[in-house]
Amino acid sequence: MKKQIIKLDINNQIYEVMVSPTDLLVDVIRKQIGLTGTKKGCGQGDCGACTVLIDGKAQLSCLMLAIASEGKKITTIEGIANQETGELHPLQQSFLDHGAVQCGFCSPGMILSSKALIDENPQPTEEDIKHALEGNLCRCTGYVLILEAVESYVEALSKGEV
Ligand code: FES
Repeated sequence: MKKQIIKLDINNQIYEVMVSPTDLLVDVIRKQIGLTGTKKGCGQGDCGACTVLIDGKAQLSCLMLAIASEGKKITTIEGIANQETGELHPLQQSFLDHGAVQCGFCSPGMILSSKALIDENPQPTEEDIKHALEGNLCRCTGYVLILEAVESYVEALSKGEV
């Protein structure tokens, strides 16, 4: 299949990459661009490890073709930390503070799915958070701590602490 050059806007940076029409976004992000914070677990839309934000919405990059992502704003886990200081996003920090990162494989997807929810609804209920995370699987089964981390961030946000 004929390869072509496309431009991807990832974390506010434009990357020119040569892709074939069947290349998946997750593979291009990880292998060509080298942003390995995005994980590939199942590769078929079941685990949520490959979640990225596309125009602010949580999407599974293993189900997206790279060429279909051209012209959209893509954010990976690397893109939510402070790009100048390297300081973690307070939601990332909350995961660390609550011990919500075990093996860490699901964390980028968990954090980005939570972020997409909170950006849209800064005061989600516990049910809203559970619903937003239902497509993200944690093989360490650390769901309670993950929920606490997200709720703690929501609380800090509502108090204007972050
Ligand atoms: Fe995309 Fe599992 S790798 S959902």
